[in-house]
Amino acid sequence: MTYPIDMNITPDVSAHFDAATNTISYIVKDPTSSHCAIIDSVMDIDYAAGRITYDHADALIKEVQDRGLMLDWIIETHVHADHLSAAPYIQQKLGGKIGVGDKILVVQETFGKVFNEGTEFQRDGSQFDALFTDGDTYMIGNMQVVAIYTPGHTPACMVHVAGNAAFVGDTLFMPDGGSARADFPGGDAGTLYDSIQKVLSLPDDMRLFMCHDYGPNGREIAWETTVGDEKTHNIHVGGDKTREDFIKFRTERDATLDMPKLIIPSLQVNMRAGDVPKDKDGNPMLKVPVNTL
Ligand SMILES: [Fe+2]
Repeated sequence: MTYPIDMNITPDVSAHFDAATNTISYIVKDPTSSHCAIIDSVMDIDYAAGRITYDHADALIKEVQDRGLMLDWIIETHVHADHLSAAPYIQQKLGGKIGVGDKILVVQETFGKVFNEGTEFQRDGSQFDALFTDGDTYMIGNMQVVAIYTPGHTPACMVHVAGNAAFVGDTLFMPDGGSARADFPGGDAGTLYDSIQKVLSLPDDMRLFMCHDYGPNGREIAWETTVGDEKTHNIHVGGDKTREDFIKFRTERDATLDMPKLIIPSLQVNMRAGDVPKDKDGNPMLKVPVNTL
């Protein structure tokens, strides 16, 4: 599949780093209008206390309002396992449509089982306003964005490309961070490698924006690189690393990793487009499946 890419368009990208989860949320603005999108927002949770707050989302909302922007889209690059999405909270304040990859149905099926959800949990993606398939386009003002399938970390991962900026989700990390794990249910190291190659086949000067950074070896947090830089320097896939090298390395490394601290609340909320599940009386309530993940 060839995707419509226009390197002559340079969207304005504003990054908001969330130190609690090492997530970077973005406000992406069409250079020729006041329209924008928010990509991968974060809702704050004190999991031990079961307390949800909105400082990170409020900062995103404030920036959109202060700059007088119109929010067209609230995009999730995938169903995150390490932070909760604030999409519905932001939508309530600013409008905009919530979009995710159509493979969300696979994720909902998998985790609907893990959390033993009843029939009231729809597994048809209807919690979202838009489900993208490979190569689907949508508009931020006058700027076209293309959504590209990049499974491997999860089945529903997509990279969103707007002009010369690509939002890679967890497909790649910064060159010195390598790549994300591929061992969650529905993940696959070989598939992730193939998806990364898809990203690396974009133009060398395409700007890449990460969803996470952990500042490896004590360097400062960073989130922006280029295709060319990743091709040369990425410690997991750059230079002469082969698909076989990657699968072996990724599988061995993943076997040593603990589950993300917030995976249990994150999946329950994010597979519902950011809504907290409710108990039979309508109260917000999270479950903890024992010895399942
Ligand atoms: Fe992720």
